Amino acid sequence: MAELFDLYLEHAIGDTPLVPLKNISSPSSGQVWLKLESGNPTGSYKDRMAYAVFKNAFARGDITTGSRLVEYTGGSTGTSLAHIASRTGIQFIAVSSDAFAQSKIDSMLAYGAEVITIPSEDQKITPDLIAAMREKAYAIAEEPNTHYADQFGSPDVIEGYVAMGQEIADQIGAPIDVFCAAVGTGGAFTGTAKGLHQAGHQPDLIGLEPLQSPFLTTGEGGSHRIEGIGLGFTPPFLNLNQCSEIRAIDQNDAFHMCRRLATEEGLLCGPSTGLNVSAGLAIASERGPDTVVVTLGCDHGSKYFTIDKS
Ligand SMILES: Cc1ncc(COP(=O)(O)O)c(C=O)c1O
Repeated sequence: MAELFDLYLEHAIGDTPLVPLKNISSPSSGQVWLKLESGNPTGSYKDRMAYAVFKNAFARGDITTGSRLVEYTGGSTGTSLAHIASRTGIQFIAVSSDAFAQSKIDSMLAYGAEVITIPSEDQKITPDLIAAMREKAYAIAEEPNTHYADQFGSPDVIEGYVAMGQEIADQIGAPIDVFCAAVGTGGAFTGTAKGLHQAGHQPDLIGLEPLQSPFLTTGEGGSHRIEGIGLGFTPPFLNLNQCSEIRAIDQNDAFHMCRRLATEEGLLCGPSTGLNVSAGLAIASERGPDTVVVTLGCDHGSKYFTIDKS
């Protein structure tokens, strides 16, 4: 197979709804809109980047039949990569950890991925854990016929998210004052912002991180429980000069917001989405009634039923 062209994947990924929050925002606040990505095949916006990574790697000849692909991942990216790896007959190796939701490890295994688990301390996500996962993935990538997906550096990742910004611009039909989103690799934040800019929007860009791992705001990472973000370093995709602000949000507010989104808005979302919405509502309240704030619904909440939220 020289390239990836797949009608199922073309149609199944993207074109997700943009949903206004109706019941949890106050009338004296601006409007918050959520780009709800849980409808993608693996329930996460990571399907967008995984498809772009595979498509371009096939097109360049970086992977061909018989190749292996490796990445270190909390499991969302890994599940998205495992899904497309299975579809295209490529062996995917995920370097992950018991700090992340077991359902994500199970999903990667279900798609036929090999999962290497690096043990964590008390199931906490720490900068040291991320570094150990990275080291292992780099070592595997040195083996013959093995391609490193490079979710932190590949331009394919950004390309995968540009359409998300363009979709938001088409759907909203109004000027966007603020785009805010939590930052892991920074791919979704930066790619979506690029798509918004290409569509003529110039919102203030506000990056978000967990208060318990406030590396971007204080230079000091810490342990926290919001999967996929707050990694303890500035990711190469994040251009701090583009951001009008970086804001740290308490993980407890994020978990609380997940429960409110489910019970008051009918939206079952993961913790990073809870964090995005907490920040979005605060920003909309500060800026007042005529403001339009857009944020991302990163993934589906059903992946997190079994995690410890304390
Ligand atoms: C659930 C979840 N939310 C948010 C993010 C952050 O996305 P990005 O890496 O594009 O910054 C991730 C990344 O893994 C994630 O898994």
